Amino acid sequence: MSEQQADEPTVQGGVLIVDFGAQYCQLIARRIREMGVYSRITVPERAKRMCEALRPRAIILSGGPNSVYEEDAPTLPTEMLEMGIPVLGICYGMQWMTRALGGGVQGAGDEREYGRTEIMIEAGAPGGLFEGLDGSRTVWMSHGDSVDRLPTGFEVLARSEPCPFAAIADPERKLYAIQFHPEVTHTQDGERMLQNFVLNIAGCPPDWSPGDIVEQKVEAIRQLVGETGEVVLGLSGGVDSSVAAVLIHRAIGKRLHCVFVDNGLLRERERDGVESLFRDDYHMDLHIVDAGERFLGELSGVEEPEAKRKIIGRVFVDVFREFASGLEHCGFLGQGTLYPDVIESVAAHGGSTQTIKSHHNVGGLPEDLDLELVEPLRDLFKDEVRALGRELGLPSSLVDRQPFPGPGLAVRCLGEVTEERLAPLRRADAIVRQEIEARGLHEALWQYFAVSLPVRSVGVMGDARTYENACVLRVVSSDDAMTADWEYLPVDVLQRISNRIINEVKGLNRVCLDISSKPPSTIEWE
Ligand code: XMP
Repeated sequence: MSEQQADEPTVQGGVLIVDFGAQYCQLIARRIREMGVYSRITVPERAKRMCEALRPRAIILSGGPNSVYEEDAPTLPTEMLEMGIPVLGICYGMQWMTRALGGGVQGAGDEREYGRTEIMIEAGAPGGLFEGLDGSRTVWMSHGDSVDRLPTGFEVLARSEPCPFAAIADPERKLYAIQFHPEVTHTQDGERMLQNFVLNIAGCPPDWSPGDIVEQKVEAIRQLVGETGEVVLGLSGGVDSSVAAVLIHRAIGKRLHCVFVDNGLLRERERDGVESLFRDDYHMDLHIVDAGERFLGELSGVEEPEAKRKIIGRVFVDVFREFASGLEHCGFLGQGTLYPDVIESVAAHGGSTQTIKSHHNVGGLPEDLDLELVEPLRDLFKDEVRALGRELGLPSSLVDRQPFPGPGLAVRCLGEVTEERLAPLRRADAIVRQEIEARGLHEALWQYFAVSLPVRSVGVMGDARTYENACVLRVVSSDDAMTADWEYLPVDVLQRISNRIINEVKGLNRVCLDISSKPPSTIEWE
């Protein structure tokens, strides 16, 4: 994927967010899209070019870890403040804007303001950024440097004890700047402030929804792949690859070749579900590669979690490569890459964002496959992909399904993975899902599954002694999998799950409950 294509906006208008290296940049983009306004993040180096391509109705300059006084502090061409487009600078964005317009910024020395602070909205300020708000509000601050002299034309909109210029503006030029973070939930009415800027000041119509872009996406795929190009896509049955497959299929029909690798680590009836949906209902060209024995053979005798993950990743790539080499006519590789992955990988190649998490996706294929990428979801967040999936008619059982890790049941079958241990785990997992879904409890949960421990304990069934493995019930709520809480289930549901597993599943004679949160635990056990 060339940088050009990675950055090419599919929509015009909306809000352009310049990422000065903020922790919360994606959150700003999300908040704006939740208002029904399209938003894009770009790095400072590409901001001007993106501005020309996107023609945004508003620009937001994010916070960032630098001081404006550092030699390599990120910067922008000052013309971006002179195009008549409303601009909102947040934290570092405020300091950069102030300095660029001739105001003063005070270095922090050892002092930082971090956490909740009260701001007082100036009596004359309501209207504009604080429309509908007055008095004091609790806001979230996280800064070292601060503005100490306003640029010409600016006035104070809000102040706090340590920060006399908590919010400032030059309403005539539609330039606004705030020292706190309106995008985080700790800021009272932060959403309202962003809405005031985006909807009222910039006048963005709140008429964007992910479903609107189906036809645009289909057209873009046709353009990229051309009249005769063919695409190969690894379909996992998860939301992302499924939505990508349906979009590409809509664009090019049978010139899309999907491959589903059965690695033997799938849940009960997962493969049947994929076959019936994509082959029978969507009439896609779906190839199933039966590689269960190969995966289990390679995993034989391996107990260490990272070693297991690495083997699964490597074998997946080998299997996919062998399959793709049989499709010599295919010049394109379809993938369900999402926006958060793109932002992180752009940052990894010279952008400003500091925290970069490493991805552990089994579907991550090597570049030397020498195929051009088709990634129709690369400007969308997960919940937007779900909305797109619904628009495309995918069933809720797929679109709203709980996440399932790339390495599959291997990370829930602790220690060595064998078919002997996978079979009872698969059954127990199906029982957990059936019981929770039958009571409609799943809608409030992030994940709910069974884990098999390589620990045997003594039990008694009928008159006979058993000596079998224990399994664990893991039920968590979460917003984004970065943190998670263990969740209560009603006692009768716990009873049914426990009774059914012990009575119906040969090989498991004990059910335990995991009451650990993340952090310090993780959601999966390996
Ligand atoms: P942990 O166990 O790190 O999991 O708390 C966080 C979320 O990520 C999922 N997960 C994975 N997803 N490939 C994936 O596609 C993986 O290798 C993988 N490992 C964990 C996990 O199910 C949870 O939702």
